Order: sequence, then C-alpha cells, then structure tokens
Amino acid sequence: MAEPLRILLLGANGRLGRALHRLYVHSDLSVTAWGRSQLDLTLPGQISAALDSTPFDLLINAAGLTNVDACEVQRQQATLSNAVAPGLLAEYCAAHHRRFIHISSDYVFPGTGTTLLRETDPTGPRNHYGQTKLDGEIAALKAHPDTLVVRVSWLFGPDKPSFPDMILRTAREQDHVAAVNDKWSSPSYSDDLAHWLLTLIRHHPQQNGLLHLCNEGAPTWQEYGQTTLDIATRLGLPLKAHTVTGHTMHGFEPFKATRPPHTALDTSKFQALTGIKPRPWQDALEAYLRSLSQ
Ligand SMILES: NC(=O)c1ccc[n+]([C@@H]2O[C@H](COP(=O)([O-])OP(=O)(O)OC[C@H]3O[C@@H](n4cnc5c(N)ncnc54)[C@H](OP(=O)(O)O)[C@@H]3O)[C@@H](O)[C@H]2O)c1
Repeated sequence: MAEPLRILLLGANGRLGRALHRLYVHSDLSVTAWGRSQLDLTLPGQISAALDSTPFDLLINAAGLTNVDACEVQRQQATLSNAVAPGLLAEYCAAHHRRFIHISSDYVFPGTGTTLLRETDPTGPRNHYGQTKLDGEIAALKAHPDTLVVRVSWLFGPDKPSFPDMILRTAREQDHVAAVNDKWSSPSYSDDLAHWLLTLIRHHPQQNGLLHLCNEGAPTWQEYGQTTLDIATRLGLPLKAHTVTGHTMHGFEPFKATRPPHTALDTSKFQALTGIKPRPWQDALEAYLRSLSQ
C-alpha cells in the first residue's frame, strides 16, 4: 500500500486551518497541524529549523495576520508573517523538493473594476494587509516554482466567528443592523474550500501558480447580511431585527484600512481544471446556518 501523503498545516487554529484539519484528519492523508506555538512566522530565523523537525511532503500555509485594520497598525508583524515568511517557507520547500500551497487574498486587487477578477488581472493593493499578501505571493512563487497560491475571499464557517455570525448576534440583541453597501466580494464557506483544496491536493499535484477559489456570487456586505437574516428567519432563529440597512465605507469609523470596492473572484480556471462548479454563496451560507441550528 502506498504511504499516505504527509501534510504539514500551518495556521491550524485559524478559521480555514481548522476546517482543513477537520476534513483531512479523517481522510487518507497524514496531517501534522501547527499553530503559532509550534512556529511563529514573525521569527524568520526559526522557520528552517522548525520545518526540519517534522517530515512532510506538502506544506500548506493558512497562517497569517488576517485582521485588515490591525495590519495597518502592526505593520512590521504583518510584513513578517504575510510577506517574508511565505518566501522563506517556499525557499525551504524548493530546497527540499516539497510542494507548497499558500493561501492568499482578494485584497491584492485594487477593486476598481466591476467584473469578476481572474488570476491574470492586474494587482494593486489598497492597504497594508493587501500589500503584504501580494508580496507574500510574489516571494513564494519566485522562490519555488512548485508553489500553488490560492486566493480566497470573505471566509465564513464554524471554527471562528465572521461576518454572518456578527450580523446574527447583532440582530438577536438589537433592533437595528447596518452594513456596508459599497464593497462587493464572494463569501466563501471554509468547509467548501477544504473540499476543493483536497481535490487539488489529490488530483492535481502538478498544479502551480495562482488560483482563485470562492463560492459563486458577488454581494455587498449589506446583501450578505440581509441574506443571513432572511435564512435565519426561515430557519426559525429568534431575531429582534430582520432588515439590514446600508451605509457607505466612506467615514465608517471602525475601518482603519481602505478597502478595495470590487474584489469578487472568477473561479473559471479552477472549474476548467477540476470540473467542480462552486455552489452559490447563498446555498453555502444556508448550509452553514442550518448546521448552527442543529
Ligand atoms: N478571513 C477572510 O475573510 C479571508 C479573506 C481573504 C483571504 N484570507 C486568507 O485566508 C487565510 C486564512 O484566513 P483565516 O480567516 O483562517 O484567518 P485566521 O482565522 O485569522 O487564522 C490565521 C491563523 O494564523 C495564525 N497566525 C497569525 N500570525 C501568526 C504568526 N506570526 N505565526 C504563526 N501563526 C500565525 C493565527 O494564530 P492565532 O490563532 O494564534 O492568532 C491564526 O490561527 C489567510 O491567509 C488569509 O489572509 C482570509
């Protein structure tokens, strides 16, 4: 019998990392899951020695500083973990002939157009988070040709609260819910991403370069929030508020970082490669909300 593929997963305590771990640990893969305590990506001098300590065939990096506003303030930490570390991880993989899958973001784009974004579209980050994610992609792809950079967007899922959870909590506690109405992207279910990545791992071991992965659709935050409340109402969840009103990003006090307006991703490259058509974000959101109410 063939030996199982050995995966080393970084960011295993994060929203996506937990989803990957949950699925892969019950598969035929062998998974070693690391959080920050096993390897702190802001310590570049420790990366190589840490990776030496465990055998693996494929490194998946789902770790990074992901709070967009925090990245504006903790600039050095953001640069080290999101930009410098991916290059060093890729260098290690190149030197040891290992495959590298690195998770990146739709925020590498300026978001000024209105069409779905393809892998070949020009980048141009609007904030430090996006810049560090772009720098990380470039460094990884330069250091190691056998790197697959997977750009994802607006993650939600059971492992860590995100936008729909915040909307639900607010609607349970308050009469009024509001969300941004001039920023569009593609909500993505972490469990769906885990399945799609598993297909890439199992059936497309040679695939490298850039790849966009998300559920289908391009709502604003307001539409995303309204759909969350509509589904919750249908599922009989008790709510005080049933409507999400809209406001613009301009002058929205909690946002320290400028957001790119249109960053919904085009997944046709993934679809052509795998034959998988990502389900609409509304269906994925409903599956997630149903799982919460069970
Ligand atoms: N969330 C989104 O909507 C979104 C959108 C686009 C792209 N992405 C990308 O998707 C990937 C996964 O995102 P996510 O939502 O799962 O993020 P997350 O929940 O914030 O998880 C990131 C993980 O990285 C770890 N981490 C942060 N700094 C680290 C460091 N210096 N050393 C080691 N580990 C560190 C965190 O550890 P602690 O738990 O110890 O803090 C956390 O567990 C990231 O690459 C992100 O840029 C996310």
